[in-house]
Amino acid sequence: MTDKLSLVSLRDVLDDRAVKRSLIGLYKEIWKEPPWDEDFWTDELVNEDIEFALSQKDFSGKAALQTDGGLYVVGFTWGYQLPKGQFPFLIPFFDEEETFYIDELGVAKPFRGRGTGSKISQLLEEDVDKFGYPSMTLRTDVGGVAYPFYMNRDYVDIGVRDPKYPQRAYMVKRLK
Ligand SMILES: CC(C)(COP(=O)(O)OP(=O)(O)OC[C@H]1O[C@@H](n2cnc3c(N)ncnc32)[C@H](O)[C@@H]1OP(=O)(O)O)[C@@H](O)C(=O)NCCC(=O)NCCS
Repeated sequence: MTDKLSLVSLRDVLDDRAVKRSLIGLYKEIWKEPPWDEDFWTDELVNEDIEFALSQKDFSGKAALQTDGGLYVVGFTWGYQLPKGQFPFLIPFFDEEETFYIDELGVAKPFRGRGTGSKISQLLEEDVDKFGYPSMTLRTDVGGVAYPFYMNRDYVDIGVRDPKYPQRAYMVKRLK
């Protein structure tokens, strides 16, 4: 496989039906993997999740597209201003401050370990910095690959565990 990847803003490519289909397919494939084990995602549910994200304040999304022999998504990340109402247990941590919530990050298995996740994360962080947020926040499983991935990107485990999933930690990176 030759790597011809193009890094793009998700909003710019989601009108392309083939691209959106490939994003939905990859999303379903990735969240089926351990430690997520989410085999309940249907095309419709993923589409709703994407539309929800797009409707949120300061949405930003990035994708890595394979451009060799077709156009399809091999990596994605997106986020938006943390909707604090959905995370009441984080309110004491942030108080009056707003933070940007990274909702999703995934890279197709054959493309992992080659810097793709880092590149799209970097592009997202640059947008968030431009928006002016002082920090970025995310939730991930302490036993998963993303935990060391984000540690290496200067995210700190703030010691808050998700009330529904005790294995899932909240991590914050300060930008300012
Ligand atoms: C997390 C994920 C997006 C990383 O994407 P990637 O393109 O492989 O990441 P990169 O190649 O940019 O790796 C950057 C750094 O992350 C760390 N890292 C990546 N994979 C790792 C692994 N399996 N174990 C430990 N550290 C790892 C390394 O420090 C790596 O730097 P190095 O290559 O200089 O050692 C990818 O593994 C993935 O999609 N996992 C499944 C989905 C998931 O868990 N998403 C996060 C949900 S919160």
